Order: sequence, then C-alpha cells, then structure tokens
Amino acid sequence: MSLSPLPRPVILDGDPGHDDAVNILLSHASPELEVLGVTTTFGNVGLDKTTRNALTTLALIGSQTPVYAGADRPLLVPRLSAESVHGQTGLDGPLLPSATREAEILHAALFIIREVRVRPGEVTLLPTGPLTNLALALRLAPDIAPQVRQIIWMGGSLDVGNWTPAAEFNALCDPHAAQIVFSSGVPITMFGLNATHQAVATPERIAPIRALGTTVGEVVAGLLEFFAEHHRERYGWEGGPLHDPLTCAYLLAPELFGTQPMYVEVDISGGPSSGRTNCDLWNLTGRAPNAEVVMTVDADGFYALLTERLGRL
Ligand code: BDR
Ligand code: CA
Repeated sequence: MSLSPLPRPVILDGDPGHDDAVNILLSHASPELEVLGVTTTFGNVGLDKTTRNALTTLALIGSQTPVYAGADRPLLVPRLSAESVHGQTGLDGPLLPSATREAEILHAALFIIREVRVRPGEVTLLPTGPLTNLALALRLAPDIAPQVRQIIWMGGSLDVGNWTPAAEFNALCDPHAAQIVFSSGVPITMFGLNATHQAVATPERIAPIRALGTTVGEVVAGLLEFFAEHHRERYGWEGGPLHDPLTCAYLLAPELFGTQPMYVEVDISGGPSSGRTNCDLWNLTGRAPNAEVVMTVDADGFYALLTERLGRL
C-alpha cells in the first residue's frame, strides 16, 4: 500500500444534520485534509434534504467541493428519520444561504469506488450517517476494500443506544449496511455514543465560537443552540454532543482520543436489540479485532481545535 501524500484525501459521507454540517466546515478549515467530495445519504431527514443541506453548508463558505447524492433508503429495513432532533429541514435554526448549484450526476457509491481506485491505499472515508453508501460501494466493487486507507465512522455505541435502548441512530438506520462494512476488512475507527457523549456542546463551549464574530461562527453557534434543545429536553443535558466532527478531529489531532482494538459485530436480528454494535471489550469471542473503538475524548481539546479552525473560515 502506497503512503498517502499530504494533504490527506478524504471523502465525507453523511446526512446533514447539524453535526454533519459542522464536520463539513471543520474539514474545509483544515489544510491537512483534501476533501475530494461530500457524499450524502438518507438519515436525519430524506436524501433530497440532506443533499440540499450539504450544498447549503458549502455555499456558506463559498466552497465548490462536489456533492454526490447516494442512498435514499436502507438496504432492507424501513427508513427512519430524526426530525425530532434536527427539525423539518434537517438543519433547523440559523439562517443559511441558498445553494446555487446541484449535486453531481454520479451516485455517491460510484464516486467512492472511482476515487479509491484512482488513489489506491490513500483515501480515508469519514461516514457520519447510516453506512448504506459504503456498503453499496463495497458490494459493487469488492476490490476496493483492501485499497481504502481507513474508515472513521460516527455511529454505534459500546454501551447504550439513543434510538432504542440498544441501538444508536446511524447503526439502527441500516444495520445490514453497518455489518457489511464491519466485516469488510477495512481498518475502522468507531466513534460510538460512549465517546461522543463526552463532547457535549455546553453554553461555555458555544460562546467562544460565537465570539469569533464571523458569519460562520454565528451560524455554528446557532446550529449548536438548536441542537441543544432536544438534548436538554430528552436527557437534561447542557447541550448536544457534537458527534460527527470528532471523526475529522481524529485525523487532525489523534492525541485527543484514546482507542481500544476490539471485535465489533452489528445485530441484524430484527429483534429488540437490532442495530446494536456488540463491542467485544473483553475479547470474550476470541475473534480478532476489526475496529478501534474510541473510549476517551479530550473534550476541551476538541472544542479548542474546533473553535480555532472555524476562525479560519
Ligand atoms: C448520529 O445521529 C444523527 O442524528 C447525528 O447526525 C449523528 O450522526 C448520532 O446518533
Ligand atoms: Ca450524522
């Protein structure tokens, strides 16, 4: 496998979504990364809206990064959505500019396949939604599996879920896709809820973002304040955990995170625990690890990084 040149080529695959949108902004503020494209999936809201939200987020910073729409539904199970968390648009809250362009014609899965084949061993995938696009790509082109440098996914959980007692939303949206990805052999780092819940966007952490005094700072502060409402009501927390941008931060500052290798298998039983990511913390199965599961997050370090980067936009 060839060594990747700097900046590191990445593809963001997500369902924007407040935290997905912040991930798009963080990656574009980071010269260490080359964002090859943003691919979208159903998830927080339907595909048309998540794609529009990706384009809108990029319009905010005047970016022409291409956007590729992908899966509009899971492989097998009925489609879920999370308007209760993200609002009817999927990005409710602050006023965002209108997108002035459309998504590209190519399907997200085909874009992923093309980029991995063009840059074997170099491309890192940062999925922050259901894993349907990645599963489609891996099924359509199994040859790419050994050529994907790394997958860093926000999804799953070492312990409890947030959509059922057992399952996290992104995993539950398409458990079969998640299991395809976890059994693909691609090196995976998993930011489950056990990690992301350590990074709550409290008012004290939002204030320096607003204090940047920029349009981007004002929009992100507004997004985080809207995102906080659901988490205050549901969990009694001071704000929402900023799940998705941790994936990008992991590439920028890996020292902020502690991980542990373990075997992860997704429950596809269709029963009450369906979508649960069973993480074999104590190696009870004796199976070789297929993922690095994030265990610890330096939340203050993460918010300092995020704020500094957003200040560059
Ligand atoms: C995940 O679900 C979505 O609502 C968020 O964007 C995040 O990716 C958290 O469970
Ligand atoms: Ca997401």
